[in-house]
Amino acid sequence: MILVVGASGLLGSKVATALKERGFEVRGLCRNPAKHPELAEKGLELVQGDLRQPDSLVKACKGVKTVVATANAVMGNGDNSSKKVDLDGYRALIDAAKKEGVAHFIFISISGDIANSPVDFARHKYATEEYLKASGIDYTIIRPQAYMETWGTVVGDSILKKGKTLVFGRGDNPVSFISAEDVKEFIVLAVNEPTLRNKIIELGGPGSFTVNELVEKFARAGGKSPKVTHLPLPVLRLMRLVVKPLKPGIGNIIGLSIMLDTTPSVTDSSELANQYKVKQTTLDQFIEQKVNSRV
Ligand SMILES: NC(=O)c1ccc[n+]([C@@H]2O[C@H](COP(=O)([O-])OP(=O)(O)OC[C@H]3O[C@@H](n4cnc5c(N)ncnc54)[C@H](OP(=O)(O)O)[C@@H]3O)[C@@H](O)[C@H]2O)c1
Repeated sequence: MILVVGASGLLGSKVATALKERGFEVRGLCRNPAKHPELAEKGLELVQGDLRQPDSLVKACKGVKTVVATANAVMGNGDNSSKKVDLDGYRALIDAAKKEGVAHFIFISISGDIANSPVDFARHKYATEEYLKASGIDYTIIRPQAYMETWGTVVGDSILKKGKTLVFGRGDNPVSFISAEDVKEFIVLAVNEPTLRNKIIELGGPGSFTVNELVEKFARAGGKSPKVTHLPLPVLRLMRLVVKPLKPGIGNIIGLSIMLDTTPSVTDSSELANQYKVKQTTLDQFIEQKVNSRV
């Protein structure tokens, strides 16, 4: 049995569905299963659980061989803050997995210098990696670059729908955007691939592109001449300081955007993809699919 924590999310739903389709027994954990009939329709066993409720995690881990953990509260505030979910909640999940004899724990982290990041969410990811490594459970830690799906929504949708977009910062830092579809393929592979055990896997998509290039590509594909507004870095830094105490989730998003705009964000996974025969999605293919799906 494989437990997918965050089965209702962008990546988690892809992983849970793909594992089910490929013949694995899959249990998906989410906070409100009734809200996700589409997952039950695919034959997934859904369990109610919450990273802030340790008992629910012990229950969900019963009889489980592999945990795939994709849940996160990057935008969470108050009771569902990143500290409560990504730090304390993940400790409880790893403890529950250990108690129930889980053999392998696949954790989805993020790329970059997360140990020394000023962004709380990034440091919580690093702390979870360390806690997992010390747990004695076999692990695979996946550190992807930014997802095409997420940035295609943030940047692309507003170009295609409204003919305008907002860029956080200068937009000139190269990034290896990766499709969540490809991250899913590496996760499915890691479930049964002994050579990916007890490893940290850095993942990036084919090529690297700045956010300004992403904007140009969406504009060209959608036949638009968008109005592009840049929020300058000093403004973003000030916004983060002001907003963080009240809304830490927004503070995390601004902080991650600053990281994307200012720190090395290129990962070449072509060798890994060739070695394991994962055919990666190019940014152009992703944009073409997105534009065509709107027609
Ligand atoms: N998006 C990117 O660009 C990107 C880049 C690199 C790495 N990542 C990492 O990839 C992973 C997947 O990202 P994503 O964008 O696919 O995530 P997502 O769509 O935002 O999904 C978030 C998931 O977390 C669950 N969740 C939130 N709070 C919870 C709690 N208290 N208890 C249990 N579940 C909770 C949500 O479930 P409910 O249905 O219960 O709300 C949802 O399924 C994350 O670890 C993320 O950090 C993302």
